[in-house]
Amino acid sequence: MQPFALLFLAGLAAAQVAPYGQCGGTGYTGSTSCEAGWVCQYQSDWYSQCVTGIATTTRTTLTTKSSSTTTSTSTSLSKSTSSSTYTTSTSASSTAFSTTNGLNFTIDGETSYYAGSNSYWIGFLTDDDDVDLVLDHMNESGLRILRVWGFNDVNSVPSSGTVYYQLLVDGTATINTGADGLQRLDYVVASAEKRNVKLIINFVNNWSDYGGMAAYVTAFGGTQTSWYTNDDAQSAYRNYIAAVVARYLDSPAIFAWELANEPRCNGCDTSVIYNWVKSTSAYIKSLDSKHMVCIGDEGFGLDVESDGSYPYTISEGLNFTENLAIDTIDFGTLHLYPDSWGTTYAWGDGWITAHGAACAAAEKPCLLEEYGVTSNHCSVEAPWQKTALDTIGIAADLFWQYGDSLSTGESPNDGNTVYYDTSDFTCLVTDHVAAIG
Ligand SMILES: *[C@@H]1O[C@H](CO)[C@@H](O)[C@H](O)[C@H]1NC(C)=O
Ligand SMILES: *[C@@H]1O[C@H](CO)[C@@H](O)[C@H](O)[C@H]1NC(C)=O
Ligand SMILES: *[C@@H]1O[C@H](CO)[C@@H](O)[C@H](O)[C@H]1NC(C)=O
Ligand SMILES: *[C@@H]1O[C@H](CO)[C@@H](O)[C@H](O)[C@H]1NC(C)=O
Repeated sequence: MQPFALLFLAGLAAAQVAPYGQCGGTGYTGSTSCEAGWVCQYQSDWYSQCVTGIATTTRTTLTTKSSSTTTSTSTSLSKSTSSSTYTTSTSASSTAFSTTNGLNFTIDGETSYYAGSNSYWIGFLTDDDDVDLVLDHMNESGLRILRVWGFNDVNSVPSSGTVYYQLLVDGTATINTGADGLQRLDYVVASAEKRNVKLIINFVNNWSDYGGMAAYVTAFGGTQTSWYTNDDAQSAYRNYIAAVVARYLDSPAIFAWELANEPRCNGCDTSVIYNWVKSTSAYIKSLDSKHMVCIGDEGFGLDVESDGSYPYTISEGLNFTENLAIDTIDFGTLHLYPDSWGTTYAWGDGWITAHGAACAAAEKPCLLEEYGVTSNHCSVEAPWQKTALDTIGIAADLFWQYGDSLSTGESPNDGNTVYYDTSDFTCLVTDHVAAIG
């Protein structure tokens, strides 16, 4: 979806470093003490981080080269020689990493179908209590997976108090690790960790909301379709991925890393996105072998059970089957928006079962990670949920999008929002979770 932008006001005063925040490293001048219960752990000469103290395994060594003043930093990465000793736990444990298990997902040691939601905005909130409120309500409702925007790209620094994660300007990229930057995402991860909610974090938007590929194009040239092969844009994108992955390398709250929101390359050969998925997912696995990786695509380009309608075609430059076969992609993703795609609501059931069949053939689970309508939520979306639950190969679904009452008022409503504690919520969350059992 393409939500509208909102401004959020900041109000942070951190004496001690919050969970996952930076607490040391060359050139770092901030506080070196972590919040109670967290310890400052050396990661590399230029970066120490507040962690929970859970045993860590594979380490990524980051070496900073150059950097003249404040704008440009180029980072190169190499995997350390110490190999991972982590093995997937089969018993329930809040420290276990989420995995696939055949055509299902395993979360905290439990293999089941899972329900979840999306809130692109939670990492842009500036009030910790609002973040906690949303994650408390999700946990209590039985929503176990939350997909959030892990990007927020700008081409100029926004007004004070507005959160942004990366500034892209004149060929340079500067990651904002400040209190109005990635520290807001840090808080979401730490809060989710305490509440049994697992996060899907993505790294760039196809759409221009919160910057997206268009923001890279503004800074590095080219076009949206050449973004996938533009060396400067890809180098900045990878540096950004490395910075985010390093912050939550050991967090069991990360369900999966996601390459992009709805990547498309209209009219391109499918090899363009295929090659980008293959190389980027391999890159993420080289940084982090413990967390899953997915694409975040809409599920376009499918022969299986195709009726020849637009979403089944490869016109947006994606071949679902080919991309899912890439070995560094753990599971498939699909979205469902008949209103935008010129199909009927009933058509959605076939879209779900067709993907289930393709995912079963690929021997990987698939996630119906966005679906929504602007009215009649219950009568339109509940049948899709039932189809997803009944379809082998579809392992979880996340409705678009979660809504709640925050200190600033109601959370963003793009028309598709389903608010906590409403009759639509009872139907799409309470009843659905009960049906999962
Ligand atoms: C999560 O929700 C369950 C079920 O309502 C509750 O028992 C548990 O205390 C909650 N966990 C946290 C950390 O709030
Ligand atoms: C997203 O993808 C579509 C299809 O390639 C394209 O038309 C659109 O411009 C993209 N969005 C942006 C912001 O570039
Ligand atoms: C996608 O790729 C597969 C494998 O190469 C091919 O069999 C299939 O026809 C392609 N799908 C579409 C929709 O072109
Ligand atoms: C995995 O999911 C399928 C349905 O998709 C179900 O039949 C099977 O029992 C599940 N396996 C486990 C271990 O839960």
